[in-house]
Amino acid sequence: MPRNKVTVIGAGNVGATAAQRIAEAGLADVVLVDIVEGLPQGKALDLAEAGPVVGHDARVTGTNDYADTADSDIIVVTSGLARQPGMSRDDLLVKNAGIVKAVVSAAAAQSPNAILIIVTNPLDAMCHVAMQASGFPRERVLGMAGVLDSARFRTFIAWELGVSVEDTHAFVLGGHGDTMVPLSRYSTVAGIPITELLSAERVAAIEDRTRNGGAEVVALLKTGSAYYAPAASVFEMVESILLDRRRVLPCAVLLNGEYKTTGLFVGVPIVIGSNGLERIVEITLTTDEQAAFDKSAGSVKELVDKLPG
Ligand SMILES: NC(=O)c1ccc[n+]([C@@H]2O[C@H](COP(=O)([O-])OP(=O)(O)OC[C@H]3O[C@@H](n4cnc5c(N)ncnc54)[C@H](O)[C@@H]3O)[C@@H](O)[C@H]2O)c1
Repeated sequence: MPRNKVTVIGAGNVGATAAQRIAEAGLADVVLVDIVEGLPQGKALDLAEAGPVVGHDARVTGTNDYADTADSDIIVVTSGLARQPGMSRDDLLVKNAGIVKAVVSAAAAQSPNAILIIVTNPLDAMCHVAMQASGFPRERVLGMAGVLDSARFRTFIAWELGVSVEDTHAFVLGGHGDTMVPLSRYSTVAGIPITELLSAERVAAIEDRTRNGGAEVVALLKTGSAYYAPAASVFEMVESILLDRRRVLPCAVLLNGEYKTTGLFVGVPIVIGSNGLERIVEITLTTDEQAAFDKSAGSVKELVDKLPG
């Protein structure tokens, strides 16, 4: 039986680090694709040469040709530009929409049964572009953001309470970034809501730090943005799909009436397994939580409305 095959488009920081995690876990053969000639080939060769030391047999290939991605089980899309000085958010939206449309069209044609995991920002809007370009059903178009946002939330909760991250669970809804909705009453340490363990002020401070988690890393790095935690988050989704683990993870999916929202990609908890989106986990929100969710969905809609037709 052949090993699973995962294509990672964009051999930059997030893409190459995700490829490394997938290969080193022996989870799948990895095809790394980039528009820059030599870059995916060089990184793939380097990753393959780590195999004997790390002890994995996964094949890692670098290419500029989508024919090499044929019959992938999963396609991870990390290709795109970071925001440059002088470039507006809307400029970035249009440029990355063009890139995501082109790469998803090319990759989906080679792997019509694959599951797409979108990473490129602005995340929720790029999921719309990917769904349109691929023609895939919503079960097979997933956005990675919630796993990262909740990992940041978990990190800060664990630090605050001096406990293991392993016993810390967080529940995050909504779009990626500023408008994400951390649900503290469902965020727990060993099953105890953090609202029972921390003051309202500390909870609010941790929620704020989580919302600005991406910007905090960018401000320190000065060039580029976070990639270790984003790549680890991609890995968690890939693993749950390939091993049909049916983890319950927050992912951006197209809502079809769930959470009182229709026709928009927004982050919600899903059961993620071999079919991609197996099921959306819906909970009843308080009036305030629903209002925050609606605001987050509204900001996704604003971006989607600006997408070129
Ligand atoms: N969803 C999230 O939570 C999350 C987290 C981190 C980063 N991101 C986003 O992921 C994307 C990648 O981040 P990064 O740090 O890896 O950036 P990076 O600049 O290191 O890598 C991007 C790569 O994409 C390649 N690329 C550009 N156009 C391409 C095309 N048409 N075809 C193939 N490859 C192409 C570039 O050559 C580059 O190697 C960015 O949009 C970033 O904002 C999202």
